[in-house]
Amino acid sequence: NEGNHHMMDDSTMEHGHMSHDNVVSLKDSTGVNELNIPPLLTSDATDRTEYTIKAQTGKVDILDGMTTETLGYNGDLLGPVLQFKKGETIKINTINELDQETTFHWHGLEVPGEADGGPHTTLSPGEKEQIEFKVTQEAATLWFHPHPEGKTSEQVYKGLAGLIYIEDSNSAKLEIPKEYGKNDIPLVFQDRIFDEQGQLDYKAVMNEDGTIGDTLLVNGTVNPVLPVEKEQVRLRLLNGSNARNFTFKLNTGESFVQIATDGGFLNEPVTLNEVTLTPSERAEIIIDFSQLNSTNDLSLINEDGSILLPFDVSNQEADSLKTSEKLNDFAVTDEEENMPVTKNIELFGMMEHVEINGKKFDPERIDFTQEQGVTEVWEIYNKKDMMGGMIHPFHIHGTQFKIVSRDGVEPKEYEQGWKDTIAIHPGEKVKIAIQFKHKGVYMFHCHILEHEDNGMMGQIEVK
Ligand code: C2O
Ligand code: CU
Repeated sequence: NEGNHHMMDDSTMEHGHMSHDNVVSLKDSTGVNELNIPPLLTSDATDRTEYTIKAQTGKVDILDGMTTETLGYNGDLLGPVLQFKKGETIKINTINELDQETTFHWHGLEVPGEADGGPHTTLSPGEKEQIEFKVTQEAATLWFHPHPEGKTSEQVYKGLAGLIYIEDSNSAKLEIPKEYGKNDIPLVFQDRIFDEQGQLDYKAVMNEDGTIGDTLLVNGTVNPVLPVEKEQVRLRLLNGSNARNFTFKLNTGESFVQIATDGGFLNEPVTLNEVTLTPSERAEIIIDFSQLNSTNDLSLINEDGSILLPFDVSNQEADSLKTSEKLNDFAVTDEEENMPVTKNIELFGMMEHVEINGKKFDPERIDFTQEQGVTEVWEIYNKKDMMGGMIHPFHIHGTQFKIVSRDGVEPKEYEQGWKDTIAIHPGEKVKIAIQFKHKGVYMFHCHILEHEDNGMMGQIEVK
């Protein structure tokens, strides 16, 4: 539908300034390729929770008749899904088979600083390292990706990313779709641009606010279609783009429920017509394909109407399940509302002029300290510039936090859950309540990956 494609009309302006995620329009998915479902990573031996993850180069026929050079984990492009259970002690043998430095960062995972895979823990080409940690957090959909200083964006862009599922006794007993690849679907959304040779051209559309492409890949598949039955289907959505925001909705305008945020289940399913994710945010939603008016030509679409993921709904009626009405016992932040702000973070700038509290990242500088196990309230402020400014998705390593308020207002129901990345709008002040379970040095940064690489990052030491 070409009519949906306008290059820069009024809808791309925010406060008189172009909102960068819309500068390049996305081509519609034509839904001709069955969606790739990544394999589940199996442990190195059946009696052990020990895994091996290799970062490697690959070649994939993503586009018709062309071979694209890619990066992947244990494969050519993207990675397998890691599944950990709460309480397990996990060992991961990380291996760098690239010809450049990389790190293995576990985004959203509560791990000691030394296992977190930030920019201080680079592996040289050929190097291996075993990390070990105990899974202490509740069921959630997290992800992993590289984090070498100044090189994160290009390595993610070329294909290094994978999902992590945490399961626990609660997720085991909940009535929610759980059949991997059938009604529990991992979905990594990424926009990319290919050059005429079919290569992922990192430089082609890069402006300093992030790489925006015109071609959508879902789990590495171009023009994907997802076959589903007439049943409730759980979609685990990750915005894995470097810089583009997505607003997911059904092309019929019908509603669905959100059941989880970045770091765990909401207390109850929340009925919505759309969900917006900035880079690195996740949401789990359930669409009930047995309840929709019509299942012909059904798709998830983006805010501008472009098709993100078409569904091929079979006439097969699957056993209908009723989603649990109570999902979690996430404690809202009544107590934290009255706590004083102990850390102020000011995000500012665009392009290469991005900074946090007036500074760019310095690996030798610790910006803040916090005591292990102590809850603090941080206020994050996105300071406008003369042009208006832009949304910065703010991420903190090694923990999950709660949103206390946005500009003094209690978060919406669908944000009353654990978060590790939060969209901060121009001019907005957001208060979060945050505690670290482990010690070590952790990063906090904007998850527009080019902003991170341009120094929009700081460090906190938990003692
Ligand atoms: Cu998803 Cu510092 O990263
Ligand atoms: Cu930013």
